[in-house]
Amino acid sequence: MAALATTAFALFLLCVSDFISVSAKGGFTVDLIHRDSPRSPFYNPSETPSQRLKNAFHRSFGRLSHLKPTNHYSVAQPNQAESTLISNRGDYLMELSIGTPPFSITAIADTGSDLIWTQCEPCVNCYTQTDPIFDPSKSSTYKTIHCSSNQCTELKGRCPAKGSGSGSACQYEVDYGIQYTIGNLAVDTLTLPSTTGRNVSFPKTIIGCGHNNTGTFDKKETGIVGLGGGDESLITQLGTSIDGKFSYCLVPFAWEGNQTSKLNFGDNAVVSGSGVVSTPIVEYPTQKTFFFLTLKAISVGKVKVPYSSSSSASSKGNIIIDSGTTLTLLEPSFYSKLEKVVDKVVGGERVNDSQIGIPLCYKVSQSKYLKLPNITVHFSGGNVKLKPNNTFIRVSDEALCFAFAPAVLVPSLYGNVAQADFLVGYDVKKKTVSFKPTDCTKV
Ligand SMILES: *[C@@H]1O[C@H](CO)[C@@H](O)[C@H](O)[C@H]1NC(C)=O
Ligand SMILES: *[C@@H]1O[C@H](CO)[C@@H](O)[C@H](O)[C@H]1NC(C)=O
Ligand SMILES: *[C@@H]1O[C@H](CO)[C@@H](O)[C@H](O)[C@H]1NC(C)=O
Ligand SMILES: *[C@@H]1O[C@H](CO)[C@@H](O)[C@H](O)[C@H]1NC(C)=O
Ligand SMILES: *[C@@H]1O[C@H](CO)[C@@H](O)[C@H](O)[C@H]1NC(C)=O
Ligand SMILES: *[C@@H]1O[C@H](CO)[C@@H](O)[C@H](O)[C@H]1NC(C)=O
Repeated sequence: MAALATTAFALFLLCVSDFISVSAKGGFTVDLIHRDSPRSPFYNPSETPSQRLKNAFHRSFGRLSHLKPTNHYSVAQPNQAESTLISNRGDYLMELSIGTPPFSITAIADTGSDLIWTQCEPCVNCYTQTDPIFDPSKSSTYKTIHCSSNQCTELKGRCPAKGSGSGSACQYEVDYGIQYTIGNLAVDTLTLPSTTGRNVSFPKTIIGCGHNNTGTFDKKETGIVGLGGGDESLITQLGTSIDGKFSYCLVPFAWEGNQTSKLNFGDNAVVSGSGVVSTPIVEYPTQKTFFFLTLKAISVGKVKVPYSSSSSASSKGNIIIDSGTTLTLLEPSFYSKLEKVVDKVVGGERVNDSQIGIPLCYKVSQSKYLKLPNITVHFSGGNVKLKPNNTFIRVSDEALCFAFAPAVLVPSLYGNVAQADFLVGYDVKKKTVSFKPTDCTKV
């Protein structure tokens, strides 16, 4: 009897040490892998850096096309060719496991959506996936949410149509514009591989088991981890166990090394010390997914260009901060004022590259040195000083482009080139986003 109890206790300890859940006091960090980096399953060594950039720009323009613009925005007509889009769900991937025993998936880390989902067996209609597909019947901790439960209603799920053979599991549907996923809402254990060596696990996490998924998903991406502000997102679900805090440090796009970007939670996500600036998150109850900030002006050297818009909407919460968009996309009339000022300062010979779709590019020549200005982004309550590497990118041997463009399909977005080499911290309890200049290859 005693021996049995001891064995059971030892087993219990074994399980606990394998998967520790974090308390409010703890913190953990996971790797974020840029989809074009050598560590990524998408890495294509034969692709040139400029081809990678072109693909990333196309992803930028197509991203968030699922965002149904509200009256809050003035949205110009789309003028980008969608056919060139390969995938628009974001630039960073993270590895995690679902179920018991843990089943590994490589998912897109997406600050522009909420649900955590993966393709699931039995596949009614799945896109081609190279890795094995998650089979919920093999996970002892998987449990579907009943479709007539309050939880299902709260998660905006519904009962499947009669005769569809889908049983009584709560059915979700997420439409990303040119991609969608339909499946069952369930709870299961989520395990995140912390870089501190120990995996952290979260039992009873709400996940989507996608049985009907189509669109331009890549065969190497097995799902999406939503990091938005909505109810089902990883951030909201981890809630008090991370004290409402997460942060990331993105290594610059042009970095050729193997260092990965980092995504931190809880105590590891505190952004403090000298050089930190903070700006309030503006909440829109109908658009909880997105983190809206307020952009007041952008300075080019000493010339300040105040934010302006062709619509009468208030400028409060006029820009979404997003880790998955490469470029910073600005309200078109504001962008054109900014472009004029930047062009005047740089004063180089312009080039047009219709393939890239970025309006402001300069010819790079050895003989003539381009004067790249320091650009400051004035958010409400804090000025973020960008380095030339946050605002200009070399897209080919011949061209250097301004990493800002007019927002043609979407609201204004603060993209990831501008965020590289900053520790960007979100505190959803205090409702702030903080920026601290940091060498992200060294953290
Ligand atoms: C963490 O989980 C991964 C699977 O996601 C597994 O390969 C690895 O061995 C685990 N590490 C530890 C320390 O348990
Ligand atoms: C998948 O979902 C789409 C969109 O609702 C639907 O038209 C299609 O019939 C579904 N496919 C299957 C095989 O159920
Ligand atoms: C990155 O890793 C790959 C394979 O692991 C290796 O071949 C390459 O040399 C590494 N690159 C750098 C810059 O360390
Ligand atoms: C670039 O193209 C735009 C319109 O497509 C045109 O107005 C402009 O003059 C062109 N600039 C150069 C340097 O060719
Ligand atoms: C940009 O800022 C850096 C650091 O503050 C400074 O050394 C540099 O001279 C500035 N560049 C311009 C063009 O003003
Ligand atoms: C900016 O990026 C280039 C690569 O495009 C790199 O060679 C350079 O060192 C970077 N400069 C800074 C200040 O980080």
